[in-house]
Amino acid sequence: MDLRAELLEAVSGADGPSEKLGRVCALLLDRMPTCDWAGYYVVDPSEPRMLVLGPFAGEPTEHVHIRFGEGVCGQAASALRTFIIDDVSAEPNYLSCSPAVKSEIVVPVFHEGRLIGELDLDSHQASGFSTGDSAMLGWLAELTAGTLAEFEALLREDGCS
Ligand code: SME
Repeated sequence: MDLRAELLEAVSGADGPSEKLGRVCALLLDRMPTCDWAGYYVVDPSEPRMLVLGPFAGEPTEHVHIRFGEGVCGQAASALRTFIIDDVSAEPNYLSCSPAVKSEIVVPVFHEGRLIGELDLDSHQASGFSTGDSAMLGWLAELTAGTLAEFEALLREDGCS
């Protein structure tokens, strides 16, 4: 099965948004040769212009909250566009999760016309992500936007309880 077909299957289960997005991240980690970490960040419903870590696959990261404008993730949230960083050591506005990471891609996720989060992938190889990967991840961002909105709704409920 090709990766897009597997991703479609991963989000079509009857379980919750955390499980679906977790499966998506695990698939990216497993099936993209250059991917060494994959995760979703969500626009924090309880704090303006803040991202909060959602489902991910790979090593835990200290960057659970990222302010808009900070790091590659925060830049993508402010600029509302995809960032491909071929060499993270040459990027002055970068938040390091691990010294092993050499390149990164961040793709914004929009739902009903607003930014609700991002897909973030790290690679231990320089120039690990191509424009082809960017196109596939853009497709995936659209595919999973509704599921990420459901995940965000769960965060809102938690924040209110
Ligand atoms: N490198 C990111 C931080 C998130 S980690 O990659 C998981 C950044 O610069 O925003």
